[in-house]
Amino acid sequence: MSTVLVTGASRGIGAEFVRQYAADGWGVHALARDPGRSTVLAEARRTHGDRIRVHAIDVIDHAAIDALARELAGTPIDVLLNVAGVLVSSPFGQSDYERWMNSVRVNLFGPMKVSEAFVEHVAASDERKIVTLSSVLGSIGGNTGGGMYDYRSTKAAVNAIMKSMSLDLARRRIIAVPIHPGWVRTDMGGARADVDVAPSVAGMRAVMAGLAPAQSGRFLTHQGAELPW
Ligand SMILES: NC(=O)c1ccc[n+]([C@@H]2O[C@H](COP(=O)([O-])OP(=O)(O)OC[C@H]3O[C@@H](n4cnc5c(N)ncnc54)[C@H](OP(=O)(O)O)[C@@H]3O)[C@@H](O)[C@H]2O)c1
Repeated sequence: MSTVLVTGASRGIGAEFVRQYAADGWGVHALARDPGRSTVLAEARRTHGDRIRVHAIDVIDHAAIDALARELAGTPIDVLLNVAGVLVSSPFGQSDYERWMNSVRVNLFGPMKVSEAFVEHVAASDERKIVTLSSVLGSIGGNTGGGMYDYRSTKAAVNAIMKSMSLDLARRRIIAVPIHPGWVRTDMGGARADVDVAPSVAGMRAVMAGLAPAQSGRFLTHQGAELPW
């Protein structure tokens, strides 16, 4: 049985990854900072039972991440999915640096720390993939709108770390990519977004399933297109 680990599993894109992978017969480690409050996760567990293991993890809590990695030592993780993220955005001249630093902790340090903690689990698996939910808003080449300094900068930075990971981990035959899910109807994306969460996640799963080593380090969309850095 293939296994996936998903952060930010309480709602939105993360919860849909849990639901779809479990429905497909995968073992799922679902990480959420307050799983007891997630009705989506509770429903998924009712449907899929023990195939889904839930862990209370806040991605800014590095000691808790290390403790879970130790608890799961020896468990291969085929796909490590960094989904947890926050979007705060202040216009030029009104930066809120405390909130910005929290975004750095969640959107940048979170994927880095989880990837470092679980790299042995990924290396021991068949698929060996580390995927981080980035955003087209992190594309510097694609920035025609300005603004969103805090969110854009954390996603541009997470792209940089995924690129380095793709190079550093290639000798262990681990594939690492940042992926843009589309503009998705979730709490973050809002009701006016382009795409429902189910097709976005189905698209990303198909892209991830077909990832070849030559694509490691590329910035991809949920439809498999390549985005500019
Ligand atoms: N929706 C879009 O259009 C869109 C577009 C591009 C990229 N993305 C990216 O896709 C990812 C998922 O987005 P979404 O639309 O599903 O967002 P969402 O509906 O706002 O859900 C965010 C998820 O991240 C979790 N989270 C936030 N801070 C956390 C922390 N410190 N520790 C653990 N979990 C934490 C939330 O948990 P709680 O329930 O505990 O708050 C929730 O599960 C994000 O990285 C986002 O930047 C989304």
